Amino acid sequence: MSVTTLLAPSVSVSVPDLLSPVTGDLAEVERVLSRWLENKNPRLAPVIDHVRHFRGKRLRPLLLLLTAKACGRVTPAHHTLGAVVEMIHTATLVHDDILDSATTRRKVATVNSIWGVQPAVLLGDYLFTRAFHLAATVGDARACELIGAATDRVCEGELSQLLNKGNLDLTEVEYFDIIDGKTAELTACCCHLGALYAGATPTVIEAMSRYGRYLGQAFQVADDLLDLVGDESKVGKSLGTDVDQGKMTLPLLHLLRSSQTELSLKARQMLASGTDRAALRPLLDEAGSLAYARRIALDLVHRAQTELQEVPPSPARSILEYMAEKAVSREM
Ligand code: IPE
Ligand code: IPE
Ligand code: MG
Ligand code: MG
Repeated sequence: MSVTTLLAPSVSVSVPDLLSPVTGDLAEVERVLSRWLENKNPRLAPVIDHVRHFRGKRLRPLLLLLTAKACGRVTPAHHTLGAVVEMIHTATLVHDDILDSATTRRKVATVNSIWGVQPAVLLGDYLFTRAFHLAATVGDARACELIGAATDRVCEGELSQLLNKGNLDLTEVEYFDIIDGKTAELTACCCHLGALYAGATPTVIEAMSRYGRYLGQAFQVADDLLDLVGDESKVGKSLGTDVDQGKMTLPLLHLLRSSQTELSLKARQMLASGTDRAALRPLLDEAGSLAYARRIALDLVHRAQTELQEVPPSPARSILEYMAEKAVSREM
């Protein structure tokens, strides 16, 4: 797993080359994370160590560090904040897996499936509070304020998604508001923090923040496609849960509004009475709904990349450009 998968190059550049501008910094973030989540209590340690040891792609700390590098230099505050954003992200995953009744995450069993829902609720809470406690050690109220505001929006996005469960009349505008909150707000915040603590100008900070927002939206649209058509053994997490849980994602919204009324009516009936991703697949293919979502994701990637013009060319900027593409062409 790890960052190498996200950045697995399709061409000639090797992964260490790709990450070299921030390899040492990412290792420092890992050290902070590991130290901050160390717990000697023999009852608590196995549960906490589960999320301490099983890593994801580290997309958010990478965005924070690479933005810092593209705007100036990486500082100790960036290392701390990289660990903070990863902890917040992990907290949302632990809670999200409860909501989705997911059994697999990061190629291993979820906390809720091993220890049950109650410990998973409390572990998620603990990760949130540990993250804010760590953010406070930076000694600058701006960090806590930015991270607090972003986390508000993440929770609002998840809440709004939950309250719209089974809402076949959800609009695309409402869908984008949900994914902007639950996913893009945090990636935007990572880039904002990276630029801010590298001493960037307000114009550059805003552009980097928009880059992170577009990338986050594209990433979530791609994730919603993977949930419908991805391979669980490659993605490493439970898939098909969006349909199972009545989450109306972009391809489904497109299908429900297809001008081929036979298809849209059939999809409506199936979704209203309970179905699964395999049964919906032929309809999605016929209506061109997967291709539609892919086009939108690619458009968001281009928007993200355009924002990078605000910073001078550098290896870090090139990687940020590449990461935007990878956000939608990934298999995990
Ligand atoms: C999963 O995020 C949740 C979404 C926003 C789709 P990631 O795919 O970044 O999860 P990890 O950290 O790599 O496991
Ligand atoms: C992202 O939504 C969840 C969070 C931002 C917490 P998903 O429900 O699609 O994420 P996965 O697919 O479970 O990783
Ligand atoms: Mg989920
Ligand atoms: Mg998903």
